[in-house]
Amino acid sequence: MAYWKAGHSLQNGKYIIEEMLGSGGFGVTYRAKDTQKGQQVAIKTLSPAIQAESDFNDYQQRFIQEAFRLAKCPHRHIVRVDDVFSEGELWCMVMECIDGGDLQEYVGDRGILSESEALQYIQQVGEALSYLHQQQFLHRDVKPANILLRRKTKEAVLIDFGLVRDFIEGKTLIHTNALTHSFAPPEQYKQRAKRGAFTDVYALSATLYYLLTNKLPFPANFREDMEKQGVNLTPPQQYNPQISSAVNQAILKGMELSYGDRPQSVREWLGLLQKQPSSGVKLVSAVGMDYRTLQGLLAAGKWREANDETAEVMLKVAGRESEGWLNTESIDNFPCSDLSTIDQLWVHYSKGRFGFSVQKRIYQSLGGTREYNRQVWENFGDAVGWRVNGSWLYYRDSTFNPSTREGHLPIHGFGLGSMGHIGRWVGGVSSLASRLVECSI
Ligand SMILES: Nc1ncnc2c1ncn2[C@@H]1O[C@H](COP(=O)(O)OP(=O)(O)O)[C@@H](O)[C@H]1O
Ligand SMILES: [Mg+2]
Repeated sequence: MAYWKAGHSLQNGKYIIEEMLGSGGFGVTYRAKDTQKGQQVAIKTLSPAIQAESDFNDYQQRFIQEAFRLAKCPHRHIVRVDDVFSEGELWCMVMECIDGGDLQEYVGDRGILSESEALQYIQQVGEALSYLHQQQFLHRDVKPANILLRRKTKEAVLIDFGLVRDFIEGKTLIHTNALTHSFAPPEQYKQRAKRGAFTDVYALSATLYYLLTNKLPFPANFREDMEKQGVNLTPPQQYNPQISSAVNQAILKGMELSYGDRPQSVREWLGLLQKQPSSGVKLVSAVGMDYRTLQGLLAAGKWREANDETAEVMLKVAGRESEGWLNTESIDNFPCSDLSTIDQLWVHYSKGRFGFSVQKRIYQSLGGTREYNRQVWENFGDAVGWRVNGSWLYYRDSTFNPSTREGHLPIHGFGLGSMGHIGRWVGGVSSLASRLVECSI
């Protein structure tokens, strides 16, 4: 029961240990080479200290269970689990190796991050957490050191899941490793307190606090004593006046000591981060979707990218990313606030030429109703320039030229890829138009 040294072979030579990356109270993580794929991987297992515990088997059962569950949670911003295996008596989890260091080092090297850069990572990790919460998982140790960056794309990836963390809470031997001061909320200091999405909301808020101030927030247990004496958490804006008021407020709200006072979901909290845009269009979302990227692209006149972003956010809002297209049901249930925000942004930045409401007006003027009618659909295609000389355009052939016909954008190229023509989204516009009517847009 010792740490593995470089050159140590696992699974009959399938993996060769290269170096130890880190070792906490219960886990140890190595970098290793997958000799079959010729790639580096990260391998996590239980530490020698835990292996020496009398109830090691209980820890290990929990570790295995959660490793398998995590392996079934694929997400762009969650580390990918490639394999779970046992080496003799000891179980191991193999993950993709993320090569860009963690956010704690990153801030340590460069100092305070700009608000837009910090929010980009936080948004990505927030999406990962929302997804985990949907799968009934809590992370329980969100902090800058557990967020890695992909070097090339600068994407944030969440690592180091609870695994056996909750299980070992309260045990004296490793107690101090069961939570991370500054990022853990008060309920994690108490053995029996309730935990929930709000637990990760606190940690994510504290992580944003750190990224924007390069300061560790006061630990929650400390803050509880301080507040009894009337001393509150120092607002992050006091350390960094560049922080916008919306973000400052969102951090303080997410770090409320009583969990009932915090936003109850990550999406709700992400919604608080949104600023009032200068266009006067309020970026309202019922599901915490961030429309700032879309706004930026439209403001910059990047019509094609804005169109792609529109498709992406709509699929996300509707929870149909994997299907890649919007069916009638998802349009019928599309949140009015989100539909309105997207529409207003398009209308505003195109000076009234583009947007769903423009398309609805044209569609209705051609006699279009909720029912699909081929003739009306084709007339509509001609009117907005989705059909040229009697045939439907392919999405890839669209010009995205701003001087094109009124109502031309956004083009609903959902999931058609390079294969389908726009006319195949049969019923899409009629459903959308009727949803707009229902939403009074
Ligand atoms: N998938 C990975 N790719 C690259 N490095 C990793 C990976 N997983 C963990 N590490 C490195 O190992 C360290 C410890 O891993 P972690 O899972 O956070 O365990 P713990 O904090 O419990 O020791 C991390 O800080 C990180 O530097
Ligand atoms: Mg860690």
